[in-house]
Amino acid sequence: MGLLPVGVAVAPFLLLLSLLSCPRIAYSAEQKRLTSILSFGDSYADTGNLVRWEDPVLESVNLRNPPYGETFFGHPSGRATNGRIVLDFIADALGLPFVPPVLSRGQNFSTGVNFAVVGATALNLTYLQGHNVTVVPPINSSLKDQLRWFEKLKPSLCRGVHAASSDCLGESLFIMGQFGGNDFLNMLIASNMTLEQARSFVPEIVNTISIGVERLIRHGAKYIVVADIVPVGCLPHLIKKSWQYSTLSATGCLKSFNSGLSQYHNALLRRRVDVLRRRYPHTRVVFAEHNRTMVAFLQDPDHFGFNRSTTLVSCCGGGGPYNQNQKAPCDTPGATACAAPSEAIIWDGIHLTESAYSSIAHAWLHGPYADPPILPIFFYF
Ligand SMILES: *[C@@H]1O[C@H](CO)[C@@H](O)[C@H](O)[C@H]1NC(C)=O
Ligand SMILES: *[C@@H]1O[C@H](CO)[C@@H](O)[C@H](O)[C@H]1NC(C)=O
Ligand SMILES: *[C@@H]1O[C@H](CO)[C@@H](O)[C@H](O)[C@H]1NC(C)=O
Ligand SMILES: *[C@@H]1O[C@H](CO)[C@@H](O)[C@H](O)[C@H]1NC(C)=O
Ligand SMILES: *[C@@H]1O[C@H](CO)[C@@H](O)[C@H](O)[C@H]1NC(C)=O
Ligand SMILES: *[C@@H]1O[C@H](CO)[C@@H](O)[C@H](O)[C@H]1NC(C)=O
Ligand SMILES: *[C@@H]1O[C@H](CO)[C@@H](O)[C@H](O)[C@H]1NC(C)=O
Repeated sequence: MGLLPVGVAVAPFLLLLSLLSCPRIAYSAEQKRLTSILSFGDSYADTGNLVRWEDPVLESVNLRNPPYGETFFGHPSGRATNGRIVLDFIADALGLPFVPPVLSRGQNFSTGVNFAVVGATALNLTYLQGHNVTVVPPINSSLKDQLRWFEKLKPSLCRGVHAASSDCLGESLFIMGQFGGNDFLNMLIASNMTLEQARSFVPEIVNTISIGVERLIRHGAKYIVVADIVPVGCLPHLIKKSWQYSTLSATGCLKSFNSGLSQYHNALLRRRVDVLRRRYPHTRVVFAEHNRTMVAFLQDPDHFGFNRSTTLVSCCGGGGPYNQNQKAPCDTPGATACAAPSEAIIWDGIHLTESAYSSIAHAWLHGPYADPPILPIFFYF
């Protein structure tokens, strides 16, 4: 569905090439030069903005302590996992350094900048609070706020190397998302709203994402990845709270939350991506799927090296069912990480492990869970 004709036309060529040489060499031989990555999103994409947020409200924020970061960086890096996130693996595959958080002062953003913030929502704080949604943390880090930071920074990004070029961002990869997951968690968990109440916000959320992408395109974005959301009904943090309101699927997820909320969001978002492609044919918009990758993990954990008996058990937590003890979240006394994080999918009840993020990145870069896969774009377009 939705594959551009060019994708179909080049398929035999791709096959031929992969017969001739290993893909890595083929890509680097003719890869279009990508100069930078600009990222917008929430805790699935933050590389250190929330922990740098100067706000007393956030002093108690988790992620500041081990075992966050234990597997890759060896110390908490501001990422909401034990190591690298999807964005890190994408940067790596494209031959670019890790994308620095915009709040890391004195950084050189010539190869990329990350606006994503742990807890970021699609809808803005004023709007959500005006609709009786308790937002945690209550800061202005929504999609629109992130776009404003980008717009403020843009003149400096476009100085220097690309000064002469009118489209200084035409060789940058923009990654939009995920957005929406926190809107739903704030509604369902922090505000105790019903599934139906949360569902009523979906069109506005998808609209906000779509308008955000259009704004990036007007700023010269040509390559944009739009990410869908993970099935929220598969997050132990929500399962623990809401299991009595929904039956569980064969893979252990809350059925009605997935079908009523995430699936609705993802289907609407997918349709908007199709609209954007038709409206802006000079751009390449990738639809990248957290959902289908996650479903694949849960249906066939062995294939990805995950332990079948702990698919929905948090690796890091304070005990209890799903290893989810609200009183002892991942980095607090009493909580510990599991012995084999590489065999776990869920890191801390909401976020995934580095090994899960690595597999997601692979599925987005090479397929099958991105339409079209990211890497070939820079090869053919
Ligand atoms: C940033 O880094 C790039 C590439 O390393 C370099 O060309 C550029 O001069 C640097 N810019 C600043 C302001 O230091
Ligand atoms: C907040 O979002 C609402 C609805 O999406 C929009 O009408 C409003 O202009 C936004 N406010 C700010 C300050 O961005
Ligand atoms: C928010 O809650 C208040 C108090 O319960 C209620 O009066 C108001 O109608 C609610 N607003 C919305 C937008 O639901
Ligand atoms: C968020 O932004 C709104 C609109 O600009 C402002 O009124 C509000 O004080 C801000 N809230 C915080 C917590 O910064
Ligand atoms: C949350 O909502 C459910 C049903 O919608 C209700 O039974 C429960 O008492 C509420 N919990 C709190 C803490 O308000
Ligand atoms: C996720 O993907 C599965 C498998 O393709 C699909 O059946 C399901 O409807 C999707 N759910 C969501 C939440 O998008
Ligand atoms: C899977 O996890 C269970 C429970 O922690 C453990 O007993 C078992 O040894 C693990 N299986 C493998 C293959 O590591």
